[in-house]
Amino acid sequence: MKLRILGTAAGGGLPQWNCACPGCSRARAAGPRAWRTQECLAVSVSPDAWYLVNASPDIRAQILAAPGLAPPDGTRHTPLRGVLLTDGELDHTAGLLALREGAALDLYAPPAVLAALDGPFPLRTLLAPYGSARWHAVGSGPLLLDGGRLRVTAVPISDKRPRYASGSGAPGPWVVAYRFDDTATGTAAVYAPSLARWPDALDDALAGVGCLILDGTFWSEDEMARATGGRGSGARAMGHLPVDGPDGTLVRLLGRDGIRCFYTHLNNTNPLADRASPERGALAGTPVEVPSDGTEIEW
Ligand code: MLT
Ligand code: MN
Ligand code: ZN
Repeated sequence: MKLRILGTAAGGGLPQWNCACPGCSRARAAGPRAWRTQECLAVSVSPDAWYLVNASPDIRAQILAAPGLAPPDGTRHTPLRGVLLTDGELDHTAGLLALREGAALDLYAPPAVLAALDGPFPLRTLLAPYGSARWHAVGSGPLLLDGGRLRVTAVPISDKRPRYASGSGAPGPWVVAYRFDDTATGTAAVYAPSLARWPDALDDALAGVGCLILDGTFWSEDEMARATGGRGSGARAMGHLPVDGPDGTLVRLLGRDGIRCFYTHLNNTNPLADRASPERGALAGTPVEVPSDGTEIEW
């Protein structure tokens, strides 16, 4: 199985265009090599078939930077077969507008998200005249993609709605994680970039996986408020369990032998984005890593 972590930042990216918090200022001063594009993943179990998880507003640059996602010489063709959405957030869906040029993509999302993309954010209506998207609901049964070799299972996480759909009464889940199984090799991975809570189903989905990529939006519960001078909600209220603390995600990762863990969807206030921070240093010697954009994992 091959995973390419296309982007690792939360909505807004690092640096964010209108922000000069310490994290954004540091990244701006360091230059593009320290920057992070908005979270997105590509998964593959065979050389000419890739699936995206989420489509970030930075998708064009992310695809151009990925050799495996280039069209074969002399063709107008893509190894991209489809896109799986974990939720309907703008930083996970707006990139679909940039993928309208002709590739026949299969798009997968939970039913509540499909309804939101037909309603308050009418992406499906907007894309319909371009004729290239086939939409599918993901439910409790696994999907078999890439000729049956890639088994994808959605793990219900929460009912956190995007702000634009806050009035929607559609039943959840609104947010899912995905487990990927390569049925030929037995390797498996879980992608969970939005964790408002840690359901038991997520622990169950981690059985036998070699790799977990998860929500690392905030290091601490009150980080946004401190970085922005008192404005901003707590991490949990914004739908993201923090990394640190007795109820954070890090303690749940320690002691899981055999699973490589990667934090993604880092907010620009998160000290983990800075290689020199003490918080980043605290991960040394643990199975937990903070990947850069473009990190590839293959096993
Ligand atoms: C989130 O991750 O909580 C959302 O993407 C926030 C947003 O950009 O509205
Ligand atoms: Mn987000
Ligand atoms: Zn900032």
